[in-house]
Amino acid sequence: MKRTILVTGGTGYIGSHTCVALAEHGYDVVIVDNLSNSSSKVVDVIKQLSGQNITFHELDLTDTEALGEVFDAHPIEAVVHFAGLKAVGESVEKPLWYYQTNLVSTMNLLEQMEKHGVWDLVFSSSATVYGDPEQLPIPETASTGATNPYGQTKLMIENICKDVAASNPNWRLAMLRYFNPIGAHASGDLGEDPTGIPNNLVPFVMQVAVGRREKLNVFGDDWDTPDGTGVRDYIHVVDLAAGHLAALENLKEGWDAYNLGTGTGASVLEVVKTTELVTGKPVNYSIAPRRSGDIATSLADPTKANNELDWRADRNIRTMIVDAWNWQSKNPEGFGD
Ligand code: NAD
Ligand code: WQD
Repeated sequence: MKRTILVTGGTGYIGSHTCVALAEHGYDVVIVDNLSNSSSKVVDVIKQLSGQNITFHELDLTDTEALGEVFDAHPIEAVVHFAGLKAVGESVEKPLWYYQTNLVSTMNLLEQMEKHGVWDLVFSSSATVYGDPEQLPIPETASTGATNPYGQTKLMIENICKDVAASNPNWRLAMLRYFNPIGAHASGDLGEDPTGIPNNLVPFVMQVAVGRREKLNVFGDDWDTPDGTGVRDYIHVVDLAAGHLAALENLKEGWDAYNLGTGTGASVLEVVKTTELVTGKPVNYSIAPRRSGDIATSLADPTKANNELDWRADRNIRTMIVDAWNWQSKNPEGFGD
């Protein structure tokens, strides 16, 4: 009997790569997504890449009734919860929308899980819960503190899950704190397709390389880093997807949090140089002022996930850029809708 996994936000960037991995590993995948930041075309791509059938329900997680019907209709055994709003700047402008969407969605989900006796949850948290980190690399035991409403929702959800875990010993909840996911499926058929101007570095750099944008603004070259530009722990989205499988298969009673990163950093200028080498295209940039809320360096200590989940992110920055470029050059306009 195949295990049925509900994937919320499964047509999104990280969710879709995880659905491919889940389906390839013999899970029955049921996706719910409201398509607010993704394309319905992704469902067919997941089917093609995995060679498996996938069930898709278009619904908003704030709609409790519709969500309950999905739990009634499928023998769901575990949930991987990606759905939510994720743009830091937008969350500062529209905090209530972020709190409403991310918190209500998650509470509805937990409520339906409890009602239907589904106790296993893997949640998309973020390195943003560490705020401006006091130590590098960052272990899970580091102090937490959000610097924007988006990050607050992640911390609040982590805490809600902690309280839920304490209420009933059946619960098994894993918070996965992703560092900076980039890259794409090696086929070039699945990748990140941001709407509007990309907020994140690599999608922006790819759009410069492909000719959709003129130049990159490098947000500061006076950070306390080797070349003065921000350093981040970039992780290949396919390694990240594998991390979800590992978390699902190693869930333990109660609540736990894991860093998913490589432990190795790359600066903005290293990303630019690697992209130029990989693509053979110039990536024009100019130095701009620091972006509000940015930090100099973010680096994971992934030891806990390496040991307890038997998982490791192996793909290096070059592979991440090769795969991101393969996706971008094959699909210059993304999914085109
Ligand atoms: P994404 O926007 O591509 O995917 C999120 C999906 O959720 C989208 O398909 C969107 O349509 C859907 N969605 C949003 N609100 C919904 C709602 N109310 N009901 C149903 N569906 C809804 O984002 P992603 O990059 O794949 O991120 C997935 C998760 O990982 C998010 O929770 C995000 O906060 C978290 N995360 C992302 C990053 C990153 O850099 N991409 C880093 C850390 C954590
Ligand atoms: C990386 C580096 C920028 C764009 C964000 C969220 C975080 C998490 C991942 C969800 C930084 C620099 C960027 C540009 C630039 N998401 N940069 N020019 O800020 O580390 O993390 O995404 O949880 O919560 O905050 O990622 O890709 O935006 O930036 O110079 O146009 O690139 O200053 O040093 P960040 P990013």
